[in-house]
Amino acid sequence: GIIMDGNGRWAELRGERREAGHKAGSAAVRRIVRACRRLGLEALTLYAFSEQNWSRPSGEVEALMGLLTEFLVSERGEILENDIRLVAIGDLSRLPEAVREVLDPLRKASSENQKMTLALALSYGGREEIAAAARELAIEAAAGRLDPATITVDTLGARLPSLSVGDPDLIIRTGGEFRISNFLLYGAAYAELAFLDRLWPDFTEEDLFAAIASYQRRERRFGLVGK
Ligand code: IPE
Ligand code: IPE
Ligand code: MG
Repeated sequence: GIIMDGNGRWAELRGERREAGHKAGSAAVRRIVRACRRLGLEALTLYAFSEQNWSRPSGEVEALMGLLTEFLVSERGEILENDIRLVAIGDLSRLPEAVREVLDPLRKASSENQKMTLALALSYGGREEIAAAARELAIEAAAGRLDPATITVDTLGARLPSLSVGDPDLIIRTGGEFRISNFLLYGAAYAELAFLDRLWPDFTEEDLFAAIASYQRRERRFGLVGK
């Protein structure tokens, strides 16, 4: 999973508007999706827009939605040709019609693809996702269809769309901040974390390879003792 942060600062450093940073960030998305597909990763979850990002100035939100639409249109062919399954997680009902019009057909058209799942976190919040799953379970329990005593870490996890691809092994955050900002909270329990100083538009394939190489050198203990 990647928290793609730093677009605004990238633009500000150049004396440009934040929107210019998002445009450059969109080019980085293309680059990194290609690299991940070539590496043979099974799943890549990109934090593109958080639930909290709706509170940004409306012009910036509109620019982001426009870039998202453009991305889905321009990448459609490549996604399908490369056997990539595109899914979206988050409160999709809040997305503008123009985004849904390109997103929904692509999700459908790619649903049988096998090589890699590209999950776009859009209007996504980890807490919101957990709350929605809890609500769902409570409704079923209240209706007598579910015994609350049977709810476990696994049954709750199974209700979280972000974990349909499994728990994230590695979460990268660009942009230099040391925080999770509501991304994949439940699945992040034992994820390896990489916080990189690079601003997202500057993030290269080499940066990705370096982060993965660092991941490969770590020992994941999951609460147990070392080998
Ligand atoms: C990440 O870059 C993109 C989104 C959150 C949509 P930012 O826009 O947060 O860039 P900074 O953090 O202000 O530099
Ligand atoms: C996280 O970045 C959200 C995305 C990358 C989509 P933010 O820029 O919104 O997070 P904060 O505000 O620094 O925590
Ligand atoms: Mg930011």
